[in-house]
Amino acid sequence: MTGPVLFCGDPHGAFRHIIDAADRTKASAVILLGDMEPRRPLHLELAPLLDSKVPVWFIHGNHDADSDELWMRVWGSDLANRNVHGRVVELPDGRRLAGLGGVFREAVWYPSACAARGGAPAFRTRREHARSTPRQDRWGGTGTHRKHWGTIYPEDVDGLAEMRADILITHEAPGYHPNGFELLDTLAQIMSAKVAVHGHQHDRLDSSDHWAQQGFKSFGVGLRGITAIDADGNSEVIVPGELDAVRDFRQRQFDAFGGDS
Ligand SMILES: [Fe+2]
Repeated sequence: MTGPVLFCGDPHGAFRHIIDAADRTKASAVILLGDMEPRRPLHLELAPLLDSKVPVWFIHGNHDADSDELWMRVWGSDLANRNVHGRVVELPDGRRLAGLGGVFREAVWYPSACAARGGAPAFRTRREHARSTPRQDRWGGTGTHRKHWGTIYPEDVDGLAEMRADILITHEAPGYHPNGFELLDTLAQIMSAKVAVHGHQHDRLDSSDHWAQQGFKSFGVGLRGITAIDADGNSEVIVPGELDAVRDFRQRQFDAFGGDS
């Protein structure tokens, strides 16, 4: 496959558009940005891609840990080893891809001065959290509550900060986004990433005014949207997100009224 690398916004149970887009564009790789919520094990949902030998990678979202069944369809899938959370993999074009799945939660860590404990973490590692989790609530190898498989721990960010990558994919948005985190800007900068791509927010706001100051290009991919991004960080919308138009309109209104609407 010599086509583009496709970055796919939160599928929330729908995969046909991804399979069709990969086929149409002869995609060289497909990358899912979390909240897959597959109705069957992920490898079955994406079987046509696997049959066509299209490489697939993903990060998990918060909703992928919403139930025992969803957890099994993602972390228990034959594709579980394609989860790039907390590590770096090499794409077919040689670019290094790093991933940070999940979301920040105050029960563990919400890195904002306005948050509980002034943004300090309650637990730095899953092992630490597991020790204070009742035995009957522990889930899987980490021993944290199943829900917290979709939570970001400081150990995840600390580990990535030791690595280098060209692209950083996150479920949460970086700092340019009204609901984003400057901490992810710092992480991308430390990792020397030139491109950061996220899901979760179900929008695709234009962040290009921030790129020079950030030192990397940032892209959101909307609900069930697909964006191709090349080695120079040039992007092309392959499938618009389902809410992109209304979110763009709201953002323009917000900007026009000085953030007072
Ligand atoms: Fe999400």
